[in-house]
Amino acid sequence: MRHVTRVFDLTTEELNHVLDRALRLKADFKKGEPRRSLIGKVLALLFEKHSTRTRVSFEAGMQKLGGTSIYLSRRDLQLDRGEPLKDTARVLSRYVDAICVRTYGQEVVEELARWASVPVINGLSDKHHPCQGMSDVMTVMEKKGDITNLKVAWVGDGNNVAHSWIEMAARLGFHLVLACPEGYDPDSQILEEARQVATKPIEVVRDPKEAVKDAQVINTDVWASMGQEDEAEKRKEIFTPYQVNVELLKYAAKEAIVLHCLPAHRGEEITEEVLEGPQSVVWDQAENKMWLHMALLEWLLAG
Ligand code: CP
Ligand code: NVA
Repeated sequence: MRHVTRVFDLTTEELNHVLDRALRLKADFKKGEPRRSLIGKVLALLFEKHSTRTRVSFEAGMQKLGGTSIYLSRRDLQLDRGEPLKDTARVLSRYVDAICVRTYGQEVVEELARWASVPVINGLSDKHHPCQGMSDVMTVMEKKGDITNLKVAWVGDGNNVAHSWIEMAARLGFHLVLACPEGYDPDSQILEEARQVATKPIEVVRDPKEAVKDAQVINTDVWASMGQEDEAEKRKEIFTPYQVNVELLKYAAKEAIVLHCLPAHRGEEITEEVLEGPQSVVWDQAENKMWLHMALLEWLLAG
């Protein structure tokens, strides 16, 4: 029984398996060859934060594979009235086959995993967004083939999605350069752990042009994540030089693709022109969340 609390819970081999399986599932379903590998399986989604893509793609993916799902908003559960997480974990484990959790503290994901007797999947915490990291890399593989020879740039906040990209870079072996304003670097411990196993450089720089220079993949995310709403105004000023716009894209490789995990704030971290432009792959990227989640669920539940 395995949990996915962060990318590093999977080995390189396991990540490659899930990525290949996701691409295969997508191709098969599009050819009209669906799989029903999860008949009778039930996924619970315990969410404490908003979600469009993660929730709907997990629920739709589960149904496409023949399983079902139950969405549980924290405020509807006894958890919200003080029932301990460890009790919730053990009770849910008696009803369902896997639990996807979206929460604030990474320790909530880890506590659930400690007590659950079914796989726990991190559907985003303040520290990690492993499913996003995996499905983003799937999108790069779909568009570019091999990712290991590419330069990938991350422009903006050293946040949860950035952390999952750092761990993907370490596990799969690609060059990642993150441009973050001072004070908004990725977590130093996550960086250090990643660099210990990485076979290509994982760099943090201040200048977004330096990160983007000759990169084939440009990636960004909101300046203020969920839970940081109070900091949004202050962050807008600090992050203004980190906008992904047409000017910045001039430094990238001509064939560069632009990723954004969405939801996007047009005119802040990315311009409308770039988000809706020819280099943007954000809609395929959003779709791929579903195929990746399906592959991950198969790996966890069907072997
Ligand atoms: N990218 C992502 O996780 O989107 P949601 O917040 O809509 O789930
Ligand atoms: N960093 C963002 C990602 C949203 C999918 C957040 O945590 O709000």
